[in-house]
Order: sequence, then structure tokens, then C-alpha cells
Amino acid sequence: MLALLLVAAVPTLAQGDLSGELEIFSWWAGDEGPALEALIAKYNELYPNVEVINATVTGGSGVNARAVLKTRMLGGDPPDSFQVHAGQELIGTWVVANAMEDLTFLFEEEGWMDVFPEGLIELLSTEEGIWSVPVNIHRSNVLWYVPANLEEWGVEVPADWDAFLEMCPTLEEQGVIPLVVGENWTVVHLWENVALAELGPEGYRQLWAGEKAWTDEDVVAVWDKFSQILDCTNIDVDAASLPWQQATDKVVNGEGAFNVMGDWAAGYMVTTLGLTPGEGFGWAPSPGTEGVFNMLSDSFGLPVGAPHRDNAIAWLRLLGSKEGQDIFNPLKGSIAARIDSDLSLYNEYLQSAAEDWQTNEIVGSLAHGAVAPETFSSEFPTVMEQFLASRNAQAASAAAQALAEQAGIAG
Ligand code: GAL
Repeated sequence: MLALLLVAAVPTLAQGDLSGELEIFSWWAGDEGPALEALIAKYNELYPNVEVINATVTGGSGVNARAVLKTRMLGGDPPDSFQVHAGQELIGTWVVANAMEDLTFLFEEEGWMDVFPEGLIELLSTEEGIWSVPVNIHRSNVLWYVPANLEEWGVEVPADWDAFLEMCPTLEEQGVIPLVVGENWTVVHLWENVALAELGPEGYRQLWAGEKAWTDEDVVAVWDKFSQILDCTNIDVDAASLPWQQATDKVVNGEGAFNVMGDWAAGYMVTTLGLTPGEGFGWAPSPGTEGVFNMLSDSFGLPVGAPHRDNAIAWLRLLGSKEGQDIFNPLKGSIAARIDSDLSLYNEYLQSAAEDWQTNEIVGSLAHGAVAPETFSSEFPTVMEQFLASRNAQAASAAAQALAEQAGIAG
């Protein structure tokens, strides 16, 4: 009986002879690529007769990839499978356009209803179906630094933004950028975590649930606080030209003290730069967000009309498998979306993230597609640009409120 169960439990990864091509579309190019490449190597091993085309469009958080994908989808030229953030980024775009296949059958066949957290499955679902397969859980609200540098400069990890603002002159006097930022989306990324700190998880959630207006006093105050924080960054120097990796580099090489970035930064520092968590770099919840996990999840879907559907389904089965997730995530700087991953394969940072994921309060990321519809999140960067130019909190709040109204999420 036990033997039978064991046989039945490993049915899916090597399924017959597939051939032809498989085009996977993502923004994991260059030094964002190793985790995806490792997973593709596994696919090649399982399906040696399939030629995998790893189509990438470079640009952090998918800023460029999304535009290319749109052209392809609208032009009737979908890839076989594409990267998309779990949540509104997929549901509000390609699902409402009837451009995706319902993957409920795969979740049932693979027993995934029991191994992915319920809340995550909800994020991937509508009443009509489940629309993508999650490969990971990333955390947005992380503050990165180099422990030895903080010691040398005589500062400690700030527990909240006021503590950070207080230490800002100490760092500036020593010629150090207190907080490094990069191109526009990284500034939005910072903003969401400042908002989370200042509004608290409940207020932050209300903003996306249509229960709080952007023009409320406490939201306007977020922009004011944000402006003060920006004064302690490189925003007016070189931020606009820095991809997130180069912002991370500035912390690693001691030009800057802190950076708020998702934990793909840990993947980069470990996998690409070869640093050891805890020594080469340290981490803490972004100021004021202790006990809260701001999550996002990378997932892959199956577009209607995928040219190599069977190969794509085999890809999705691998992505969602325990083995696939444990190949991908230790390299990527994320934890598995599954609840049964083998934590001994994960480094110290990731083990701490896994623990927080279990115990913290969970909220979702704006900059990475979890909480707001595409109509809102694709226009919010323009509000940010205007704010960077004007630093007018009232105007930014009013503009964001107008966007929220258009997107149907206004409180
Ligand atoms: C996020 C994505 C991560 C990482 C990051 C930087 O949106 O979820 O996997 O790629 O962008 O590009």
C-alpha cells in the first residue's frame, strides 16, 4: 500500500515524449536570469526533445516586458507561457480579456489546492477559474545594508522613518547617501513601503479595498513624509538612470547606507555578487513595518492559443512542483509558494523570510501587481514623476484619487 502511494505521489514530472518548441516570456534577463535558467535546465533534462526559447525583455519589475507582451497578445502572437504577477496584474488585464486558459484542472491534477496557501490561490482566481501558477513569494518591504559599514558610520538600523530622518545628517556629513533609490518604479516601491509604515497594514489595505480616500489627511501626510525621506536620497543626482541592481551596488560598495528593495536583491547579492547573508549584507523590515510581510508572487499563465500548449503545460507542472520551486527559489532570493518546500536548501535570509511569511501580517504590493488593477498601477508612476518635480502632496493625493476613481477602487 505504501509503495503504491509513493508511486502515485510522483507522477507528473516526466510525462512522455514532448517535442517542438516552448517559448517562455519574462523579464528575468542578465543577472536576473540564473534561477530561471536553472529551472529551464531541469525542463531540458525532463524533455530533451523540446527546444526552449527563453525570451526575455530586460527591465526591473517588468516595466518594459509588459509593453512588449501587450503588443504580442493584442497581435495574436502569444508566447507559450509568460511571467505575470499574481493578483490584479493578470486578472485585470488578460483574464478579463478572455485571453487566458483556466488552469483549475492542473491545480486539481497536481494536488495544488492543498500545497499553495489559500490566500495565494485566491489572488490567482476569479469565480470562473484559476489563472496562473505561482513559482514564488517575494517580499517587498525589506531594508538592506552592510552591517560593518553601519558600525563604521555610527548608525543603527532605523526602526521607523523618524529614526531614519534623524540619522540622515550623520550619514550625509560622512559623504554617504543615507538611502539609495533608482529608476521610477523603485521609487514607487519605496513609496508603498512608506505608506505601509505610516498608514499601518489596516490603512494600507483600506486604500486598495476602496475604503480610504487618497485625499484623506493621513494619506496626504504619507506624501509629506515621503518627500522628507527623498531629501535623504540620490533622487536628484543619478536615481533616474539606475536599475535596481545598481542601486543595490551602491549599498554594497559603501556609497550608500540603506536601500529598500524586494528580496530579489538578496538573490542578486548571493547568486551574482557571491555575498554571504548576515556578513556581506544585512536586512530588516523596511522602517515601521516590523511584523508585516508585503508580498508579491511571480506566476506563469497559459495564454489562449499558445502555439505549444502541451509543452507549456509541462512547464507549468514543473514550475508548481516541489522540486521545481526548490531549484528556482534559493537562487532567486524568494521563498517557495508551496508550503512543503525543503528549507534546508535555503540560506539564512530566506529562512528568516519563510518564518516571517508564516507569522507576520500579510499585505500585497502595489509596484508588483498584487493589489491594484493595471489601470491604476500603470498610471501611478506618472503621478510619482509629477510629485518628484513638484513635491506637492495635495496635488499627488488628488491625482491618485482621480486615478483610483477611474480604476474603480476609490474610497
Ligand atoms: C519584480 C519581480 C521579481 C524581480 C523584480 C525585479 O516585479 O516580481 O521577480 O524580477 O521585479 O525585476
